[in-house]
Amino acid sequence: MLVKIKDLELKGNVILGPMAGVTNLAYRDFMKPFGVALSYSEMISDCGISYGNKRTYDYLETSDIDRPVGLQLFGFDIKNTAKAIEIIQKEATYDVLDINLGCPVPKVVKTGAGSAWLKDPEALEKYMTEVCRLSEKPVTAKIRLGWDEDSINFEEVALRLEKAGIAALAIHSRTRSQFYAGNASHELLRGLKEKLHIPLIVSGDVFSLEDAIKIKEITNCDAIMVARGGIGNPYLITQIDHYFKTGERLPNPSLADQLSYARQYRDKLIEFEGEERAVKELRSILPHFLKGFAGYKKYRLALTTVNRKEQIEAILRGIEVQEGI
Ligand SMILES: Cc1cc2nc3c(=O)[nH]c(=O)nc-3n(C[C@H](O)[C@H](O)[C@H](O)COP(=O)(O)O)c2cc1C
Repeated sequence: MLVKIKDLELKGNVILGPMAGVTNLAYRDFMKPFGVALSYSEMISDCGISYGNKRTYDYLETSDIDRPVGLQLFGFDIKNTAKAIEIIQKEATYDVLDINLGCPVPKVVKTGAGSAWLKDPEALEKYMTEVCRLSEKPVTAKIRLGWDEDSINFEEVALRLEKAGIAALAIHSRTRSQFYAGNASHELLRGLKEKLHIPLIVSGDVFSLEDAIKIKEITNCDAIMVARGGIGNPYLITQIDHYFKTGERLPNPSLADQLSYARQYRDKLIEFEGEERAVKELRSILPHFLKGFAGYKKYRLALTTVNRKEQIEAILRGIEVQEGI
């Protein structure tokens, strides 16, 4: 199943979901070779860009490895979004412009951005029509099922967004009120794909190859978006990508593989951010590489308190010695 986002032909069907605080350039560069067909940046404030905020500009950085990549903006007023689009078109190298219509965080929704847009599909259509008109790059959007369980309106929103001119739609199968709780309700998406003329990307609880296969069966989507499940398990992307291309199930990675991936990610993040800042971030991410392997609690715990690269190395080496790897 070839996915085309306007003229952009993807090389696979697995998309790296945007995650604030995680999917920075180092993470995306690290994940890409595992079979990511398209990555998304962390969400970026359109106001931050239009006011020239230096930290916001850092989010615009991409690389050759990273591409194709989508930059994700969030905003509530077309004036700010238009200015941000004008700036990123001049300053950034990217392939897709994504608009965040699903963020549930109070700080964002109280401004009218993120999933707050789902409450007013008519205004949203108007806003997105203008975004699509202004953007030289194909526009995608990421939504949720609706604001809450009493206002599930993804179908209306999807059709309006298609009419506005978006080139692909990603849906996280939860409502705003659910945040990340409970299970994603992919069943509700059954039949939507057949009503759309643009690629449908589905997100939510993809923690194993079987999860991805199930979502594809239920929704007939064009691509699967992997977010939390890829943290500390990059090979999940390879397994899903390979399965969709060949029908073959690859075995799970060994502990030795996981340690090698952990080192690759550690080194990449340090290269991008410097040791001090990178090690702080690694404390919450590296323990995930040991998930699913019994008996490593003390090592996982130790990884949460590291201050230096050598400490990380000593812990990973300790595991290898214990296992005779
Ligand atoms: C820490 C974190 C940060 C996220 N940040 C974003 C974001 O910036 N933009 C966005 O559209 N979705 C964001 N999401 C939602 C994910 O892209 C994804 O849709 C959601 O986590 C469900 O997929 P999963 O169950 O596979 O993680 C975030 C999720 C998490 C856990």
